Amino acid sequence: MAFGNTAELLGAKPSPISKSEYRNRQEKLYSQLTDESALIICSSSAKVRSNDVHHPYRTNSDLLYLTGWSEPDSVLLAIKSDGKWNSHLFLQPRNTELEIWEGRRPGVEGALEGWAIDTASSIEEVEGVLIKELENTEVVYHSVGFNSIVDSAVEKAINSKTRARQQIGEGPTQRIDPSGLIAELRLIKSEAEIELMRYSAEISSLAHIEAMKNGYAGIGEWQIQGIIEGCFRYLGASNWAYPSIVGCGENATILHYHANNQECKDGDVVLIDAGSEYEGYAADITRSWPVNGKFTESQKKIYNLVLKSQLAAIDACVVGNEYIEIHRAASKVLAEGLVDLGIITCSPEEALENGELKKYFMHGTGHWIGLDVHDVGIYKPEGKPRKFESGMVITIEPGLYFGDWRPDLNDLDPQWAGIGIRIEDDVLITENGPDVLSSRCPKNLDEIESLIGSS
Ligand code: GLY
Ligand code: MN
Ligand code: MN
Repeated sequence: MAFGNTAELLGAKPSPISKSEYRNRQEKLYSQLTDESALIICSSSAKVRSNDVHHPYRTNSDLLYLTGWSEPDSVLLAIKSDGKWNSHLFLQPRNTELEIWEGRRPGVEGALEGWAIDTASSIEEVEGVLIKELENTEVVYHSVGFNSIVDSAVEKAINSKTRARQQIGEGPTQRIDPSGLIAELRLIKSEAEIELMRYSAEISSLAHIEAMKNGYAGIGEWQIQGIIEGCFRYLGASNWAYPSIVGCGENATILHYHANNQECKDGDVVLIDAGSEYEGYAADITRSWPVNGKFTESQKKIYNLVLKSQLAAIDACVVGNEYIEIHRAASKVLAEGLVDLGIITCSPEEALENGELKKYFMHGTGHWIGLDVHDVGIYKPEGKPRKFESGMVITIEPGLYFGDWRPDLNDLDPQWAGIGIRIEDDVLITENGPDVLSSRCPKNLDEIESLIGSS
């Protein structure tokens, strides 16, 4: 029951990321930068929806990772000189009139007291300070596209150096995108991050369970979405980590379906892909279950096959394995199973090569997850598949989709028509094997069937 005492349901809240951890992250990054350089990380402005209404704001994850600061219109400027660095934050200053309408701001004093930064000033000063400070640097680390004033100040600094080189020789000659360096740090999660991710996965698991308990033939996709997202907020998540997918019947065969506006019919399987964001960290969980509480024999066969492939892929989440082993493991089980069911008529080996399996399983088996649901981290550094290391977190999400609305599936045996099933968990790689952060969310067929409609 998700609507109860949150501490009893979820245990103690995990600690937020400490100031010293943010300092550690900054040091790890700054120590890789060249001397006489500037690092600039911006958050964008809130986007206006209409008149006085804004779209919900979520900051740039790199800025969140380095400082924990989540306000719009902010810029981290770290100048590195003589091997030393200083973290300066430009931010929206205190403004009583605006705060009366929009909410309190930490301002300069609050930021200095509560966040891991050295100095701070108003965002209004950013252009002037950049023009002056960049003159003394040789390299600027900066990702374009978050703040146009900052983008043009950096461009001007580099252009003026290039054009004026023969007369003055001041200013940076190079802009380097720092996001690759930050991605390498973000890829390995700390203990504190893991606990936040586990908590986000637990919130999401309870929300999925609540949806199962309230399932019945005739429920609307939007109602299931309402239960799930209501649980996210009730249990303390800030929001969803990505728009919830709730698709019943053939809607479950559309991978990123998001209309969520159809009534679920007797006999439909509903596919729910929904995860919360807690303290910035995403969960990403998919469960598929029959709204009337009982899988048909055909649905059961597909469900158990997807589950078998998911368990095989989780078993491949082992330190030292190449990340593509998860896809190999899941695909092999699915190809063999589809041949056994007579859905694929060539051999499993051929189906893996000739695109037959892709007709029913057309996406990857997993992706990194962390501050972003599709988290950063190059999958094939220097062209070679990355090997799993302790502290990486990846989703495992095989699925099978039989959209009989698809012209290429005209000949499908009607018993499979309209079935879409995906099972997705979030898996931490550890020295002791895979640790499923979302293990609280049931996925065994009997357990799911007994939960449906039990509320
Ligand atoms: N929720 C999107 C995905 O599973 O990748
Ligand atoms: Mn996913
Ligand atoms: Mn998902």
